[in-house]
Amino acid sequence: MDVLKELKEKILSEFNEIKSMKELEEIKIKYLGKKGILKQQLSILGQLSADQRAEFGKQINSLKELLEEKIQEISITLKEEEKRRRIQKEKIDITIPGKKDEIGAIHVLTLVKDEISSIFLNLGYEIAEGPDIELDYYNFEALNIPKDHPARDTQDTFYISDEVLLRTHTSPVQIRVMKSQKPPIKIISPGRVYRSDEIDATHSPIFHQIEGLMVDKNVRMSDLKGTLEIFAKRFFGPDTKIRFRPHHFPFTEPSAEVDISCIFCGGEGCRTCKGEGWIEILGAGMVHRNVLINCDIDPGEYSGFAFGMGIERIAMLKYGIEDIRLFYENDIRFLRQFR
Ligand code: PHE
Repeated sequence: MDVLKELKEKILSEFNEIKSMKELEEIKIKYLGKKGILKQQLSILGQLSADQRAEFGKQINSLKELLEEKIQEISITLKEEEKRRRIQKEKIDITIPGKKDEIGAIHVLTLVKDEISSIFLNLGYEIAEGPDIELDYYNFEALNIPKDHPARDTQDTFYISDEVLLRTHTSPVQIRVMKSQKPPIKIISPGRVYRSDEIDATHSPIFHQIEGLMVDKNVRMSDLKGTLEIFAKRFFGPDTKIRFRPHHFPFTEPSAEVDISCIFCGGEGCRTCKGEGWIEILGAGMVHRNVLINCDIDPGEYSGFAFGMGIERIAMLKYGIEDIRLFYENDIRFLRQFR
């Protein structure tokens, strides 16, 4: 009987030491397992007298009950402790400043492209697109610029092969559209263009243009002028005036460079317009009859006008940006000004 009393004390003190479920499990096996201490104690039953046996059995049973109770109790405490620890770990400190969602901005060139486009969309134009990698035929030949034409010098580009190149302007889209659609045609074509120019404050080997083309019966120079005047006033402001200066493009005849009255000095002459009062914004003209013929459009029945402008140039004017490189450097301080 003393053995059992001793055992009970040992059990109670061991239970006080338990710190984890693993330790609890070990103790459970040690006492209640198949080869556990209680089973071992039972084996001495045979050596006892009937009286002693009954008493001993009772004691063992109560010890067993005590053990089971203790195990139950401790496992609840351990589980609660574990839960408390987990909650502690997962605790959210609501006083820590949150992570801000950085909202990006539309790139200024896209903004300007969209603004120009929307003016022409409102005038009934549709957007047409063509590939950046273009055939020599569409970029030059069909636009009345044969292989030895000096106009090729100002539009030197990157060649993939003798016949395949990176387009130097958006004008090849004119050819693609005229070859695939019958007049009336009214399209604009924004996109990326390439020239093997040295990089400086106003030149980049990759830049963007937006082309316009209208072909129908009786399209005249005055239609071109009216259209560009509407564009200039809507884009640069209602007081803007335009002026046509004679120029030469192989694919238009007559051709013109178009200026707007200086938006910085109103025409009086300043640093930006170099004292001229006028600033060039685009090239334009009446579609050359050879170009119409190349596209199977009868120049006796139809006529058209075309214009093309550099998006960077227009953006630089609109926002007073002095270096074209700023558009491509992705300096966030620059970009975030144009939300
Ligand atoms: N494609 C010409 C250029 O890049 C611009 C232009 C387009 C001129 C259409 C006239 C008509 O310089």
